[in-house]
Amino acid sequence: MHSQALPGFRDFFPDETTLRNRIFTVWRDVAARYGFEEYDGPPLEPLELYTQKSGEEIVSQLYAFEDKGGRAVALRPEMTPTLARMVAQRARALKKPIRWFTMPQLFRYERQQRGRLREHFQLNMDLIGEAGPLADAELIAAAVDVVRAFGLTAADFRVRISDRRVAQALLAAHGLTGPQIVAAYAQIDKLDRDPPEDLVQNLMRTASLEEHAAARVLAVGDIRSIDALRAAVSDASIDPDTVSPLLECIEALASMGLADYVAIDMSVVRGLAYYTGIVFELFDARRTMRAICGGGRYDGLLEALGGIDLPATGFGMGDVVLGELVRERGQASEVTGAVDLFLVAVTSEDVPAVLGLAHELRDAGRRVEYALKAQSVAKQLKLASARAASQAVLIGPDERARREALVRDLATGEERRMALSRLVESPSRPADR
Ligand code: HAM
Repeated sequence: MHSQALPGFRDFFPDETTLRNRIFTVWRDVAARYGFEEYDGPPLEPLELYTQKSGEEIVSQLYAFEDKGGRAVALRPEMTPTLARMVAQRARALKKPIRWFTMPQLFRYERQQRGRLREHFQLNMDLIGEAGPLADAELIAAAVDVVRAFGLTAADFRVRISDRRVAQALLAAHGLTGPQIVAAYAQIDKLDRDPPEDLVQNLMRTASLEEHAAARVLAVGDIRSIDALRAAVSDASIDPDTVSPLLECIEALASMGLADYVAIDMSVVRGLAYYTGIVFELFDARRTMRAICGGGRYDGLLEALGGIDLPATGFGMGDVVLGELVRERGQASEVTGAVDLFLVAVTSEDVPAVLGLAHELRDAGRRVEYALKAQSVAKQLKLASARAASQAVLIGPDERARREALVRDLATGEERRMALSRLVESPSRPADR
């Protein structure tokens, strides 16, 4: 027998499941606040759904195999191609813009490292059928609000925003053509991780550039402010309208009061191949972790996968880095007990009364537990504390005769007698939950 889960896969013990559920609850709440509807798709998909458009990196990480019917299939590594296929199927009938979210478990055979596993859950929010920058701003705001909902502030994380249309125009102005631009994106993407000398060398090799040209190309990724962006665009004699969507998106976020959370960063190009416009990533402010979230505009994907030409933008936020951040900042949920009431039978003759009462209380929606074998009162109370119950309810012969119970508050030790009928009727206190 294997004593551990596969590398990169998690066993969710109750504590971890509590945090996971809390993340799911926040994801659903924020998506609802923005008017998004939930959908889902199959975890196993035709392999070609990903080989067509997702890009080399993710294809190299696929869990892919042949099924018993001889079909080439893959566990889903991301949700966007499934979404594009689903929307394309019903595109005519769906009211635009389509606002959909989902929370799938995804699988990527990655090199395991901090914040990167071989399975993760990912909130996806996507807005389809709207090409303007207010749609991009809407999604960026939703991503920020998810992280804010965990009590994190602008001191803890930042959204870095860029636009592939601008990056492409700047690179083209440096004389780069299609495949060279793709090669440049790959190196610019690593700017904050690898030494610049290495990136220059890589770029000279992959894009066949001279050293000074490679260095100038990499400098595009160093643009980190609106002023620097405007200057670069004017120096390269690029149509100033190219930057308008990005600037409008940032202005919209400022109008929402979120200016402190966003920064221009032209080194954000995103690893997936299908992005066509504004792209963004959320990072912890100290940048000690991998991205919490990444997304952007992918206006050509629905056409490529389903023959329907609709603009689209969206993001994916994983549970792994978010969970680490929430835990690190001490925002993980306080441990609450699994039960409200622990029923204690004083003698073995009281057990049937305890069973009857437990069932009535559970019918009334209370969270109830009792000892599953005859035990001393002291042992039962110890178990009640270990289960973090808020109250112990003692039933002995006297209590039975009077149809009442002795209710002990386990935090304060305070005791009071209560009629059984009142105990069953009394609503569960919010503090108990
Ligand atoms: P992605 O950047 O590949 O984008 O993933 C989005 C987020 O998922 C990452 O920022 C990270 O938090 C999490 N994530 C990805 N891979 C792993 C992993 N191996 N372990 C833990 N967490 C991971 C996408 O998947 C796009 N489909 C998102 C999107 C939706 N774009 C438009 N709509």
